[in-house]
Amino acid sequence: MNQHDTIAVIDFGGQYAHLIANRVRRLNVYSEIYPASVKVEDLAHVKGIILSGGPQSVHEENGLKCDPGIFELGVPVLGICYGHQVMTHLLGGTVESGEVKEYGRATLDITESENPLFQGCNKQEQVWMSHFDEVTNLPAGARIIGSSEDCKYAAIDFDNNRWGIQFHVEVTHTPNGLKMLDNFLNACKVERNWSLDQFIEDEITRIKEKTGDKNVFLLISGGVDSTVTFLILEKALGAGRVYGLFVDHGLMRKDEGQQVEESLKKIGVTNLHVYQGEEEFLEALKGKYEPEEKRRIIGDKFLEVQRKVTEELNLNPDEWLLGQGTIYPDTIESGGTAHADKIKTHHNRVPQIEELIKQGKIIEPIKDLYKDEVRAVGEKLGLESKMVWRHPFPGPGLGVRCLCAEGPDNVPNAAQLELDLNTFLTEEGLTLVAKVLPLKSVGVQGDVRSYRHPVVLSGQADWADLEAISPKLTNRFLDLNRVLYHLNDTPITETQVTPAYLTQDRLNLLREADAIVHQTITEEGLLREIWQFPVVLIPLSINDRPGESIVLRPVSSEEAMTANFTEIDWSIARQMTDKILALPGVSTVFYDITNKPPGTIEWE
Ligand code: XMP
Repeated sequence: MNQHDTIAVIDFGGQYAHLIANRVRRLNVYSEIYPASVKVEDLAHVKGIILSGGPQSVHEENGLKCDPGIFELGVPVLGICYGHQVMTHLLGGTVESGEVKEYGRATLDITESENPLFQGCNKQEQVWMSHFDEVTNLPAGARIIGSSEDCKYAAIDFDNNRWGIQFHVEVTHTPNGLKMLDNFLNACKVERNWSLDQFIEDEITRIKEKTGDKNVFLLISGGVDSTVTFLILEKALGAGRVYGLFVDHGLMRKDEGQQVEESLKKIGVTNLHVYQGEEEFLEALKGKYEPEEKRRIIGDKFLEVQRKVTEELNLNPDEWLLGQGTIYPDTIESGGTAHADKIKTHHNRVPQIEELIKQGKIIEPIKDLYKDEVRAVGEKLGLESKMVWRHPFPGPGLGVRCLCAEGPDNVPNAAQLELDLNTFLTEEGLTLVAKVLPLKSVGVQGDVRSYRHPVVLSGQADWADLEAISPKLTNRFLDLNRVLYHLNDTPITETQVTPAYLTQDRLNLLREADAIVHQTITEEGLLREIWQFPVVLIPLSINDRPGESIVLRPVSSEEAMTANFTEIDWSIARQMTDKILALPGVSTVFYDITNKPPGTIEWE
């Protein structure tokens, strides 16, 4: 197997470490993720170390630190955000709570442009910040090489071999971030010999070694991850030695269960067991409306079905390994070797499977890859483009896109809130009218889950107006976490929410609306441009139009940690709206103009 020069990424929590590892691989360098507790001895082979960001403070009692011995290894080190603070703190500098919380876009003034870290960069670079604490004093010998308006110590060179930066180079919002990372890798003098072709070749060897003469039982959803896993396993082991289980929970899109089955068969999945669970799942969800409870029920049901099927199949752990299409966000690394500790809910953990995990009898060939890499591997393995570019679809499926309600959930002081909102809109020079909806959806604000109301804006506006006003409203009006734009020209005078749960009829209506959207964006060639396009059913009617409403939620994203709502051509949006309004039982159609944060991609 090919030996690679390695960059170690020390994980201080959150998803930053994985994103950094992905970016390092994009630069053709192999990377490994280690927990903050890694021992220095285990890093003896690495050519460079990157300390990731994380959500903590170095002053918290439990704030993760790393072994200061890391700085004695002599290899280049780059600390990013929290990693930058940990490094400064351990090397003798000071970190304090910042007076200004800096979040989002900032301008970095590079004060030492000849620094190796900034080769090829501009004097001023747009960077992405997200911090509260900041460095306020440097250890001896260190110097500032870049500052932003609110962060003097935004970039530090400790000793021409160790750097700390307060901003995130790994996110796309730092346009020259990859260049800076590339510069750091140059300083590490690593060989750039990691490639996906090499990965596939190495992985096939690993799969053969790990399986020996055993077969693999693979949980398959029809999504790109599990399909690519199937293909790579089959490439390594040959047809017939991989057995797939696809659980149709009845919360799929229109005709999707059937399509998944057909496409899997088309690519050679012959050993496929399909479990029809629709009635069972809906029965378990009867009368439930609370998002987390719905998710838990769906997750539990998955486990129950798997338990049933694995028991029926009577898999002997001595003859079978369990395969899973886990990818990096589902993987928590430990001890330097990747062990999938957190597996998607629908993949774990019947007792028999747990036992297999304990015994190391689980195989997850793409657990270190990122969605873009998985897609590239899929293409290399000959997967048809329709499957490669399928939009991500959540495990609980339409279950989390079909909002349920016991009845209206009114915002306190709705009348005053609407008055304030409308005054604000006028002050902003907009002729839009605001209406707060008597229901809630899930969002993420300050890294914490929120469950708040959407506001709908009706009237004439262009994309630039909507883009500007949306964050202003959610920043100022704390009862809100989502902003919608009304796609039907009628002003909203009245709203009504009726009790609604997960029923076949409601799911069918949602499936029809979703199918219209899916067909339109496919015909318009927008499938690639839009990263994901949830279509949501909410039990709300307006004015004298009975029925329920549909929300269109197209987003652009790279890794789903952050997302922008996608602006699609008005004529296309109108075309979809007219078709959806023609469906019996649809009251109106909204367009979700919320970024993430503050709104999550899904509504629940
Ligand atoms: P949110 O709604 O949290 O979603 O912004 C981020 C991404 O994750 C997907 N998602 C899920 N995927 N099981 C999954 O496999 C789940 O339970 C689940 N919930 C959300 C979501 O579709 C988006 O791509």
